[in-house]
Amino acid sequence: MCGIIGYIGSKKASTILLKGLKNLEYRGYDSAGIATNHATGHIEVRKSVGKIEEIARRLNFESFEGNIGIAHTRWATHGAVTDENAHPHTDCEGKIAIVHNGIIENYRELREQLISKGHRFTSDTDSEVIAHLIEENLQYGFEDACMKAFDSLEGSYAVLALKEDEDKIVGARKDSPLVLGIAEHGVFLASDIPSFLEWTNKVVYLNNYDFIIAERGGVKVYNDGKEVSRHIDTVEWNVEEAKKGEFKHFMMKEMSEQAETIMRALQQDKNTVWDIVDEIKNAFGVFFVGCGSSYHACLAGSYLFSKVAKVHVNAVLASEFENYEHFLTDRTLVFAVSQSGETADILLAVRAAKRKESRVIGITNVVGSSLTMEGHALIMMNSGPEICVLSTKTYTSQVVLMTMLAYAVAGKYEDGLEKIGGLYLEVYNLTSRTMRDSLTTLAEILCDKWDIYLIGRGLQYTTALEAALKIKEVSYLHAEAFAGGELKHGPLALIEEGTPCIVFVSSENRSKILSNAEEVKSRGGYIIGVSSEQDDLFDFWIKVPEAEELNPIVQIIPMQVLAYELAVLRGLDPDKPRNLAKSVTVI
Ligand code: AGP
Repeated sequence: MCGIIGYIGSKKASTILLKGLKNLEYRGYDSAGIATNHATGHIEVRKSVGKIEEIARRLNFESFEGNIGIAHTRWATHGAVTDENAHPHTDCEGKIAIVHNGIIENYRELREQLISKGHRFTSDTDSEVIAHLIEENLQYGFEDACMKAFDSLEGSYAVLALKEDEDKIVGARKDSPLVLGIAEHGVFLASDIPSFLEWTNKVVYLNNYDFIIAERGGVKVYNDGKEVSRHIDTVEWNVEEAKKGEFKHFMMKEMSEQAETIMRALQQDKNTVWDIVDEIKNAFGVFFVGCGSSYHACLAGSYLFSKVAKVHVNAVLASEFENYEHFLTDRTLVFAVSQSGETADILLAVRAAKRKESRVIGITNVVGSSLTMEGHALIMMNSGPEICVLSTKTYTSQVVLMTMLAYAVAGKYEDGLEKIGGLYLEVYNLTSRTMRDSLTTLAEILCDKWDIYLIGRGLQYTTALEAALKIKEVSYLHAEAFAGGELKHGPLALIEEGTPCIVFVSSENRSKILSNAEEVKSRGGYIIGVSSEQDDLFDFWIKVPEAEELNPIVQIIPMQVLAYELAVLRGLDPDKPRNLAKSVTVI
């Protein structure tokens, strides 16, 4: 939920860290800070509440001296959003500084022990114990003190530490992401690759329990007390992909990339696809597990498998997966679906499945994420970096992968590829100027409403759920989705004169869903139709192509745009909705 970055090299650390922090801001954005090992040998820390750009100006980050430093952007978990709780945290003497992403579960006991030994704490965070634990063990030297400190932590951590007069950064990871970037002028340790992509695309994916010492002369990695060698990879992502370019917001940029990203999702190794198809056919119980938008993609997948492949799969929220654990055996197949590959609930589900010897296939977008290392097999989404907190292009890629797998299991892999490939122009047009203008008009109608309801049947129900999530998370308007047939079982009571209801229509269920829309209309509802054909019932019409089992792709894109336009009209930042973070690494 937070982002960390460290740099040691020949360049000015503060300039590099500030850029890195801006790239990491999507991971958390309530406060931020930097610590550098000053040219004169002492540690200097500046941190505060607010957005990075503004904090950097106010605290004059650029004026920091030194070319070793660590930095942090925070999404509060333990302790309020205050200057004191912002990272970096220091020991009693201000000689050690640390940044941490994760949760220290035993921090209360550690804190009490440290206080009884005379340590003085200045924040309410779980992270501050790390700085004091290192201080407590300093008689063993900085590196061993760090090792001892990290060994006593329970929970998850990616942590970086600096000490005055030490020309190095010491770091470690357990269940929180940390990657190493190797540039000609120095070394990076960070939560993700885009944070340092401007300087290098040479990366090392670190394993759980790796302990790292980064010095000017090179990097050493230890695991279980022994020095280990780790492979250096070259990533394909380019810097432009991680920048806004001509777009005002990442959200708009990422929505506009979908014609391309959908095609990239299809670029899978055929043999891997066939192996997975065999696994699905031979499994005794298949689960699609995810959170938020990834869960909605799983749900769409369950309908697609039923419709196209005639195979039963269970779509389960990762946070609810433990309730299904007694169904897991060594013949169960679990698809863990996660854009970030770092969502705590998903990783817990993966570990639960592995405990029962079930097979786990990860579907993720982030190279080197925990999910890429924890599953037995892997499908990469190939969407490129998604910076906006909202999933847009990665959601459609997940749905594409589900569709492609359903076709492959049905023995119609090539047909599936052709059908999805045929969507390129349609998808491209869904974010065109004309479409955006029409959706801006609709956003003007909706932006002062209290509630928006959305209905669909079958696959369109899953689109209604995802569209409602998009609207609420970015515009803060109440949006709620129902299966069309459920309206009469309660939700109709909510409809008043002018209540907006977005209706997702497909040729397959047209008459049924329109009759549900009629129920809303006759109680005064304002009907917004998302369909290929106009209807007298509609007060507003969003024209989309009829794409049958690909409707979840073509119908969600205008909804993403609508959500974006609502946020912009309401003066909100679509890339960083309040209270949310891109990678949800807490349960
Ligand atoms: C989507 O717009 C969200 N911000 C959120 O629901 C997200 O899909 C969820 O947190 C799961 O993330 P993951 O795909 O990285 O696991």
